[in-house]
Amino acid sequence: MRLLGISFLKSCKFKSNWYNSSRKIVTEVVPPQETVDRIPAADPSLVEILPSWPETEEPELRAAVLRDMQVLPNFVSEEEESSMVQELEPRLKRMRYEFDHWDNAIQGYRETEYSNWNPTNARVMSRVLATAFQTPAAGEALPHAHVLDLASAGFIKPHIDAVRFCGEVIAGICLLSSAVMRLQHEKLPHLQVDALLERRAMYIMRGSARYVFTHAVLGGERSAWRGARLPRRRRLAVITRSCPLSEDTK
Ligand code: OGA
Ligand code: MN
Repeated sequence: MRLLGISFLKSCKFKSNWYNSSRKIVTEVVPPQETVDRIPAADPSLVEILPSWPETEEPELRAAVLRDMQVLPNFVSEEEESSMVQELEPRLKRMRYEFDHWDNAIQGYRETEYSNWNPTNARVMSRVLATAFQTPAAGEALPHAHVLDLASAGFIKPHIDAVRFCGEVIAGICLLSSAVMRLQHEKLPHLQVDALLERRAMYIMRGSARYVFTHAVLGGERSAWRGARLPRRRRLAVITRSCPLSEDTK
């Protein structure tokens, strides 16, 4: 994993250098400054503490989870969304949605891993790395994105991603449908937080949001944001995770 991760980062760098130098040769003019992708800001109004969590209870944890769970709206443009769906669709179409295992954490899903993105989509994935994986605690990102295709009737039950497979950061791009993610304190279940995962947003979960709270994606009949129903359609999540810490993989 570690080796693959390094080669993935190297190949991103290699591509952009190659692009610049080839322009120089062909046009023989000073190349335009390398375009730096605009990194959208998190919108704190998309993360909300539920009323069952009294304001006076665990005020530090309250502040921490609001810091550690972020939603960045419009992280991908409409064109980028279509381009990613187009690249993934042939692979996903070959699989069936799984509904049958009642005890699975996820219902109504098909999933794959993906890394060999076309240049347009690789640029989006570089933006994910530049946005969510720049803190020292984030460490290196796993080279393969986890692509989770959730049917309109699908949902994800509360769970914490296993530390054996995932380190500090979980960053998910949300395509095709908005959804509500609910965080719930593992030991104090009335401490809950909802996040509105808008279509084309990216969410970042780290620290307390990743380790102290479970997360779930609400199914159609429970899907609501600030009291208003939020219809769920088919949803694709492209999730990048930090490499697990080596002591957790033993
Ligand atoms: C998961 C998960 C969230 C999402 O696959 O572990 O929590 O955005 N997915 O689909
Ligand atoms: Mn998860």
